Amino acid sequence: MTTDMTRRPLTLAVLGATGMVGSRVITEAAARGHRVLALSRRPADGRPAVTPLAVDATDPPAVRRALAGPAAHGPADAVVLTVRTEPVDQDFLVGATRTVLDAAARLGVRVLVVGGAGALRSPGAPGRLVADDPAYVPAAIRPVALAGIAQLRACQDHPYTDWVYLCPPALLAPGERTGRYRRGADTLLTAPDGRSWISAEDLATAVLDELEDPGPERLITVVHDG
Ligand SMILES: NC(=O)c1ccc[n+]([C@@H]2O[C@H](COP(=O)([O-])OP(=O)(O)OC[C@H]3O[C@@H](n4cnc5c(N)ncnc54)[C@H](OP(=O)(O)O)[C@@H]3O)[C@@H](O)[C@H]2O)c1
Repeated sequence: MTTDMTRRPLTLAVLGATGMVGSRVITEAAARGHRVLALSRRPADGRPAVTPLAVDATDPPAVRRALAGPAAHGPADAVVLTVRTEPVDQDFLVGATRTVLDAAARLGVRVLVVGGAGALRSPGAPGRLVADDPAYVPAAIRPVALAGIAQLRACQDHPYTDWVYLCPPALLAPGERTGRYRRGADTLLTAPDGRSWISAEDLATAVLDELEDPGPERLITVVHDG
């Protein structure tokens, strides 16, 4: 994938700014010349073009104010929702997703949700979701996978339609930014080495590629392409 440097800079809100994924999305966005509103309960330090803001995803007016952006700039062009709790809290995840969609709908902001691989179809068994396939999801992490499915349903049930749900592959961890990834739709992908994985850095490149050049699908996934 290439980046068209003549593109106008976007204003991107990232909710979950301090997380594994959110922090890398911010690094990638800043490197591409976009403005970033970095939202989380405990905001990180600011960097040029990155404005940290303390926002709790359970506080709808605060989320709406944050997406409305500073008066000088107006609303964000897009918001990336990439929050997680430990242990998983499905009610929180669904509530935060609705809150973001509600605010985005009022302001006309595009929404990209970084979700979970469990919502994808299992390769080789299209009638089965990854969440229901013990080959990918052991019993101990099934509640996390089910919360991701509930989050996707919350998007599908919401009247606002300008959203995309990006499922990582089975394994997502900090690593190297290679810029090499393959994109798919509703079925879990595997890399040339047979594993279903991507680095958080390459997932961030996929997030920015999708925001800069939106595709037609609502449900997308990516995998490392070595
Ligand atoms: N293979 C997979 O499917 C896979 C693997 C890993 C992650 N993921 C998904 O990727 C997404 C991001 O995960 P991650 O690993 O980057 O998470 P993470 O590192 O645990 O970060 C979570 C982020 O959420 C923020 N957060 C939590 N509660 C919040 C609240 N009430 N209000 C505002 N912000 C809140 C945290 O900041 P504060 O605590 O400062 O608020 C932090 O920035 C999640 O959807 C996760 O399920 C999927």
